[in-house]
Amino acid sequence: MVNKFKIIGREIELNQLKKVIALHRNILIEGPVGVGKTFLVRQVLQEMKKGFERVDGDTRYTEQKLTGWFDPPVVLKKGYTKESFLDGPLVSAMKNGKILFINELNRMPEAVQNILLPAMDERKISMPKLGNLEAKDGFCVIATQNPKEFTATHALSEALLDRFEMIRLGYQSKEEELAILRQEVSSKMKNGILERMVDLIRATRNHIGIKRGASIRAAIAIAKLMEGGIDFESAALMALPSRLELVSSDEDPRDVILSLLSLNEFPSLIEKKKN
Ligand SMILES: Nc1ncnc2c1ncn2[C@@H]1O[C@H](COP(=O)(O)OP(=O)(O)O)[C@@H](O)[C@H]1O
Ligand SMILES: [Mg+2]
Repeated sequence: MVNKFKIIGREIELNQLKKVIALHRNILIEGPVGVGKTFLVRQVLQEMKKGFERVDGDTRYTEQKLTGWFDPPVVLKKGYTKESFLDGPLVSAMKNGKILFINELNRMPEAVQNILLPAMDERKISMPKLGNLEAKDGFCVIATQNPKEFTATHALSEALLDRFEMIRLGYQSKEEELAILRQEVSSKMKNGILERMVDLIRATRNHIGIKRGASIRAAIAIAKLMEGGIDFESAALMALPSRLELVSSDEDPRDVILSLLSLNEFPSLIEKKKN
């Protein structure tokens, strides 16, 4: 699928990512939700015309799903042979010298993460009844993860981290965030209003009452709602609550958002988070 959106900014990270991919080394991309981790990897792999298998991390993912499994009806006919084995994404990537792209690796259970150790290190895995499988040239792992403080994650083991080069993505500049938003909305939307959306989401990241602020995805959502005829305030009240985490769970995110919306100029009026 061709994506019509371009990568805005990120020159240094892009350059590093491409070079590390060309070296077939394993890469871990870390950053908060919505900074463009998945987008960046997809766009780069497409641009470099690299074949890849994609897996999305999930707390109920199994080792079998990653490697593959024997198809019972075929096993009945042919026994435990190569023909009765259905390749999972790891085996397929290793056999064909492709990249294994694991999105949100730290949502995977530890047992699944452990399967990757020999594959990444010795480029080999051993499978019951099938024996050893060696990876063809070109095989490597690209993974993304959210930082530790995000919920529903299983921190990667030291052993696994030791096998990755890391690229960290933070939030982009206001100008770049505005360009990302501009790229995703109709040209009819005025710059002034887009700027206010970007200021608003940036303000949530510095707010003393907010533990985890909103990403550009929230601004894109506000803009889409406005394109559908919803006013700014209502759109913000719909788009932001699910995308913020407050310091105090007793507080209503809507109150915090309303207090932000009542300000004419966001950043200068907001107390900086104390570290
Ligand atoms: N540098 C960028 N250039 C263009 N669009 C971007 C960029 N960063 C983020 N986006 C947009 O923001 C959305 C969220 O990014 P995504 O990759 O899903 O974030 P993450 O995987 O880090 O949670 C993307 O779909 C894309 O539309
Ligand atoms: Mg993602």
